[in-house]
Amino acid sequence: MKKNIAVIPGDGIGPEIVKEAVKVLKAIEKKYQHAFTYTEVCAGGCAIDKYGKSLPEESLQACLDSDSVLLGAVGGPKWDNVDPSIRPEKALLGIRKEMGLYANLRPAKIFPQLAAASPLRTDIVENGIDFMVVRELTGGVYFGEKKTYEVNGELYATDNMCYYEHEIKRIAHTAFQTARKRNHKVISVDKVNVLDTSRLWRKVMHEVAKEYPDVELQDMLVDNTAMQIVKNPAQFDVIVTENMFGDILSDEASMITGSIGLIPSASLGESKRGMYEPIHGSAPDIAGQNIANPIGTILAAGMMLKYAFDMDEENAVIEKAVADVLSDGYRTGDIMEEGKTKLFCDEMGDKIVEYIEKA
Ligand code: IPM
Ligand code: MG
Repeated sequence: MKKNIAVIPGDGIGPEIVKEAVKVLKAIEKKYQHAFTYTEVCAGGCAIDKYGKSLPEESLQACLDSDSVLLGAVGGPKWDNVDPSIRPEKALLGIRKEMGLYANLRPAKIFPQLAAASPLRTDIVENGIDFMVVRELTGGVYFGEKKTYEVNGELYATDNMCYYEHEIKRIAHTAFQTARKRNHKVISVDKVNVLDTSRLWRKVMHEVAKEYPDVELQDMLVDNTAMQIVKNPAQFDVIVTENMFGDILSDEASMITGSIGLIPSASLGESKRGMYEPIHGSAPDIAGQNIANPIGTILAAGMMLKYAFDMDEENAVIEKAVADVLSDGYRTGDIMEEGKTKLFCDEMGDKIVEYIEKA
């Protein structure tokens, strides 16, 4: 199969981890006789330095012209003081919006080999951690009107949290369909005791639920959810929530699996084409040292093969190679334990490729 992949290395550790994911994709190409082309796309802080904006038109166009986008990470303290309208993160938000990627799937699944890396108590981890956060990605407070102005001699700022019914409806369908392929249970997270957007969210979720009688729907307040994720994560199958709640809860969910460096994500819209990235950021503090964990990005590349290109087997081979490498005791620094073998970022990529080749 021929596929054109837009590759955005981005900033910080982005280039290092993306390089390892491309290495893995090349191994898959060879093993299964696919032909992928990789179009390198400049976006994020590096694009501000080069072009004065984080998402130049050519970069967006290259993403729109691709069969799918693979992204490392964008942002860093270097651009903390640039005008908010051109911040590195704007590139990410711009691609999500322009490509219509309203559904963000973020799995939180513990590798049993890494149970000791979880900050949770063993008796909690033993019950299992395997759920999917379905985060709405192109609405809510991220995209509502933002203003800072002076009122009575002092500064005043507002961010508008807003949702259309249709935006809630389509993410509800994503959640119920995701649950159908899992354990048929959706927990919809909101703040109905305070927010109007949440009241609309809950109403629409229950309407859509009628089309999925085989899936159980439960509502949960976001503050309680944050607590339940650390108290009893085994109760979750699919969590569906609005953009900012999903941003926060998915970081929490990833951490209980041992390391934020392990978790991939898929951003999807109406078409198969999407954007695939690890959920962690650009980690500027460790950039350029070859010590980042490339597994989240490698698994994101695997998700791309599965969701965008229907290459289920190829993804399964990547997932198994990662699991086997961990079982055999190889670790990057973030998940290192006594008695295991510590690898640099590029060595971890090589090791996973080695396991794919011999699979
Ligand atoms: C994420 C990130 C982004 C977000 C930032 C970089 C804008 O935290 O993908 O979770 O908030 O969506
Ligand atoms: Mg985030």
